[in-house]
Amino acid sequence: MKFVLASRNAHKLEEMRSILAGHGIEAVSEAAAGAAVEVEETGATFAENALLKARAVMEKSGLPAIADDSGLCVDALNGAPGVYSARYGGPELDDAGRYRLLLQALRGQTDRTAHFTSAIACVFPNGDLIEAEGVCPGTIAFAPQGTGGFGYDPIFFLPQLRKTYAQLTPEEKAAVSHRGRALAVFEEKLRAYLAEQGR
Ligand code: IMP
Repeated sequence: MKFVLASRNAHKLEEMRSILAGHGIEAVSEAAAGAAVEVEETGATFAENALLKARAVMEKSGLPAIADDSGLCVDALNGAPGVYSARYGGPELDDAGRYRLLLQALRGQTDRTAHFTSAIACVFPNGDLIEAEGVCPGTIAFAPQGTGGFGYDPIFFLPQLRKTYAQLTPEEKAAVSHRGRALAVFEEKLRAYLAEQGR
């Protein structure tokens, strides 16, 4: 079965594609499937936004679509930027601008605890839905470190590995990340679903 990945974020797409391939699931981007759509992320939760994206791409492509909605929740900021992670600070900021703004917002703050969440939604053309969630706890570093990954990776520190996400290889990140965890749960649920369908 072929899946379409409902995302236009090239970094996220590559992470999803490669993690799913590791689980034996073939997936192409919405652009490659000719099903690129502009989806307004109006949901109040990661799960709602993932469902909005997956449903829109499934409707356009006629194929089962998988979406990830994710973000960084910082305890000292009452969970911000959360579902607004991609838009934090406004549209003129790039990834580095956003993480610098977050470091600024936490200046002098000793509580650095945070977590990343990834909500996965997979919608099938018959309307069936599989949902999964993954969380990765960590802290916000005092300065950016590392050059890998994307988004807030240089400032998201994993105390147990003593590295930021940006200092990990893609394989190391996938083994511990919110997205890696969510997609592992998704894969289990997908297997159970396909077995139930007799496929
Ligand atoms: P959305 O899910 O497309 O709304 O965007 C999620 C945003 O959260 C991204 O644009 C990044 O800023 C951030 N984000 C999500 N996952 C990661 C990650 O694995 N590393 C760094 N930033 C991430």
